[in-house]
Amino acid sequence: MSTATCGLTTTKASFIEQARADGEIFIRQPYELYSEENQEAWRRLYARIQPRWRKYAHHKFLEGVDKLVLDSTHIPRLEDVNRFLKPLTGFSAKAVSGYVPAYVFFDCLRNRSFPTTITIRDAARLDYLPEPDIFHDVAGHVPMHTDRRFADVLVRVGEVAQKAAQLVGGMRDEAEQVRRMGSIVKAMARFFWFTVEFGLMRDGGEVRVYGSGLLSSYGEIEHCIESPAVQRYPFQLEWVINQYFEIDHYQPLLFIVDSFDHLFSQVDELERWMLAGRLDNVSPGEPVADEEDLKSFLEAGTGG
Ligand SMILES: [Fe+2]
Repeated sequence: MSTATCGLTTTKASFIEQARADGEIFIRQPYELYSEENQEAWRRLYARIQPRWRKYAHHKFLEGVDKLVLDSTHIPRLEDVNRFLKPLTGFSAKAVSGYVPAYVFFDCLRNRSFPTTITIRDAARLDYLPEPDIFHDVAGHVPMHTDRRFADVLVRVGEVAQKAAQLVGGMRDEAEQVRRMGSIVKAMARFFWFTVEFGLMRDGGEVRVYGSGLLSSYGEIEHCIESPAVQRYPFQLEWVINQYFEIDHYQPLLFIVDSFDHLFSQVDELERWMLAGRLDNVSPGEPVADEEDLKSFLEAGTGG
């Protein structure tokens, strides 16, 4: 297929392939490459999820959507999104070519920038997508970044990553360093998954959705609240950091926090546990930090 017909469709965009081949993580959003099919995918995704957002999303998310003035008819330009976002919390969406090594990702958060995918899923397959796309990142994540307390949570997660890199980077025994870093990265990935990606929060007398993986899924945003098959438990840090998860189906287990302040306090707790060595031996299983992720942490820790 030619570039013109593929536009910026996830896994089919030659612009992205080229950027990756050139080793570029941070890129521009080549808006002119979006095809009519790409725009149609955005329109349909946005139109069908809106009533479900009103029913299931946390009110801070709904306020965020309004504050960003997201266009329901066209894929957003990141510069437009940032014009509204930056004055509110200092956060901005930054276009990336896809995979970002874990430390680089967390370090962006610490600096209030959010690595943002610019491709969009195939209009013929709106439901299932293993990779993030611009609908997940901009419609699912970015509205939450308009909230001061939530933005502070992301920054604190970035700070925990930085401290982890410094702590483990100072170790002499290289094998032990890699093992320990692997366990901490696993704990942090699980924490992120069960909060920022798939978190539930009390809101008024109800349980509402603030996790972006749920907010960007037409099917799962309803399923996670309504289905009796989903186990929903009060957030427990010791459980979360030891809980294996799978990414290719609806989540059977979710955790509820009381508030953004509660969530913030749990990041503080995560940091205390990390410094006390309590993240050094979390249970095995997914996600296994890959070599690039570990390398990114170890290089940051040794100043390399
Ligand atoms: Fe995400």
